[in-house]
Amino acid sequence: MKERSSKVIVCFLLISSALCAHAQRKLTPAEQARWDSLKRITEQDYKTMLAKLHIDSTRRGPSGNPQAPNAANADEAKASPYKVLPDPLVLKNGKRVTSPALWWEKRRPEIVEDFDREVYGRVPANVPKVHWEVVSTVNEMNGEIAVVTKKLLGHVDNTAHPSLTVNIDLTLTTPAQARGPVPVMMELSFVFPPGFAPPAPPAGTKPEPDWKQQLLAKGWGYAQIIPTSFQADNGGGLTQGVIGLTNQGQPRKPDDWGALRAWAWGASRALDYFETDKAVDAKRVGIEGLSRFGKAALVTMAYDPRFFIGFIGSSGAGGAKILRRVFGEQVENLAGSGEYHWFAGNFIKYAGPLTPNDLPVDAHELIDLCAPRPVFISVGSPTVEGQWVDARGMFLAGVHAGPVYKLLGKKDLGTATFPPMETGLLDGDIAFRQHAGGHTTGPNWPTFLGYADRYSHK
Ligand code: GCU
Repeated sequence: MKERSSKVIVCFLLISSALCAHAQRKLTPAEQARWDSLKRITEQDYKTMLAKLHIDSTRRGPSGNPQAPNAANADEAKASPYKVLPDPLVLKNGKRVTSPALWWEKRRPEIVEDFDREVYGRVPANVPKVHWEVVSTVNEMNGEIAVVTKKLLGHVDNTAHPSLTVNIDLTLTTPAQARGPVPVMMELSFVFPPGFAPPAPPAGTKPEPDWKQQLLAKGWGYAQIIPTSFQADNGGGLTQGVIGLTNQGQPRKPDDWGALRAWAWGASRALDYFETDKAVDAKRVGIEGLSRFGKAALVTMAYDPRFFIGFIGSSGAGGAKILRRVFGEQVENLAGSGEYHWFAGNFIKYAGPLTPNDLPVDAHELIDLCAPRPVFISVGSPTVEGQWVDARGMFLAGVHAGPVYKLLGKKDLGTATFPPMETGLLDGDIAFRQHAGGHTTGPNWPTFLGYADRYSHK
């Protein structure tokens, strides 16, 4: 029992519970103490936000454990009590959006404002500048290919509040023999602490192809940004990191940005750097992430039009999944003290007194903010990955995002019928594919890269 709870603790502290099944050691006393204190600070911050929202309590979300008495619903027949989604092509004043101009000038800003205020939070006007330092440049081999790897640190100017130091960790690798600037895929990456490893693939599964080598084989580069280097993945960290820095170490206001928006901000600052690096074709920088970082990858795409393509891995609730669906993870889970920090404080209201049906927006409209750029929605197999992420909920968001893409002269998913496993819907500017593996983007990389190829020459 003791050992099990320690594993859960490490999950909360450092990485996701979903990725944590293979945590390999107990916490040291120092880690335990850090956890206890972080949990206290998180609960306090959560309470402070509830008070600001005049909320006494929220509804509890279902359990991610399918065996638990309060397990999340995994029965499609019970998934759709909500009948209507917000229409991305109807203005607040009830008028229909019939032209791209109306979309860009009127409707898109309305949707952005709703996501800003109620879901992901606003990036403050006073976010300090980032100064990029190339810490090292190394010529090395990745497999057969000679590469140049740069380690970078983005120093966030903290002159307004010197007691907080915030740096963005970034690594960039490009082929050494490239004849010019190359396209780059940037991953929002997890960091596993010493003694912990990512979950091993189930016995008998093929080893995953190495995504970095696949990119190099195409002549592309890759980058990894560490979101938790500049904004912690817990509520206790909201008075620190870049969010804390802009608030002088004070708790957030209800419409201030949450961690997803902060992580996306960091990805944009990395792209600022790429624009200055001659090795990178900055017009061909894509973004990839899994799970919470899949959510962050989609938020990055939605808010920064410079990213040319998104590979959105198992992003689930708070990412590409329709929130008006009773299947897998629910708004009530996202709004609890373990995950509320990903969002604006205002989002908590939708777990009490409001309901998901009161949200002014839903996930299909987040995809629409990426339009007309290509978005590849990736998910694993429910039998391996589980039902928590809600594959069909993400597919449906892709379907309902379609009309905006079409209005902008692009192609939608092409069908409203959920495709069989390993059958990519790849003809449109919104793509979807369910691979046969677990909670990973790994097996979808070859398909994604084939898809991305179409766009890399335009
Ligand atoms: C939890 C959480 C998900 C999240 C995932 C992850 O399962 O409920 O919303 O995507 O962790 O980031 O691994």
